[in-house]
Amino acid sequence: MKLFLDTANLSDIEEALKGGFIRGITTNPSLLAKEPKANYVEHIKKITELAGKYGKDISVSIEVFSNDQKEMVKQAESFVKQIKYKHLAVKIPVNYKGQSNLSVMKELSDRGITVNCTACMTPLQLMMSAAAGAKYVSLFYCRLRDAEKEDLYKVEREALIASGAVEVDDYDPNKVLRETVPLLADYPKTEIIVGSIRTPLDIKRAALSGGHIITASLKTLKASLTHFKTDDSVDRFLKDFANWMK
Ligand code: E4P
Repeated sequence: MKLFLDTANLSDIEEALKGGFIRGITTNPSLLAKEPKANYVEHIKKITELAGKYGKDISVSIEVFSNDQKEMVKQAESFVKQIKYKHLAVKIPVNYKGQSNLSVMKELSDRGITVNCTACMTPLQLMMSAAAGAKYVSLFYCRLRDAEKEDLYKVEREALIASGAVEVDDYDPNKVLRETVPLLADYPKTEIIVGSIRTPLDIKRAALSGGHIITASLKTLKASLTHFKTDDSVDRFLKDFANWMK
């Protein structure tokens, strides 16, 4: 299992890369919008420079910002041309209001562009985008779990169940991961990225349910390392040694 960092913040990226525990960075337009206003491509170039400086083969995912399919292809090609980073992946949303973007993924992957299919919620979205050529398929873990309860989407949730597209427990992201793994058997090069992670427990459960890569914020990744008994043990070692040295 590999960890990626989910951010566009340069200082978080540098800290995580120095720590040596991440193998990739994922961004999205909302994460970019949290950073000071800048040129999109120039900001990504700074991320890829850091990736090249501190790591080896660090994957960097950036997302298109259009729902027009011709424009998505144009943006993806222009990112690759301008950023010139070997491990760049372009994120394409799996679907939007009835418009499937699988043909965009196929076109880009046929042209040698690494695709990260994003915003997936179901095993079939993940599997079909792998079939269309996506190297990475991203499941939004906590956003899916939220969808089970959100009042805002009550009508859509019930309609999806009534149509036979999903069943009641298909909002459990761990179940979705467990079901996706066998469906990806014919696409061994595709890796599942689990995003929308909020706690260390989410990381552990997502990984044990079959996620190949978990992407999370620096705060969540750092929280995964802390434990009060670790602190207590280190305190005791230092105290015992200081007493012995007296
Ligand atoms: C993944 O690639 C996405 O950037 C991300 O994890 C979305 O998560 P959020 O629900 O924390 O915004």
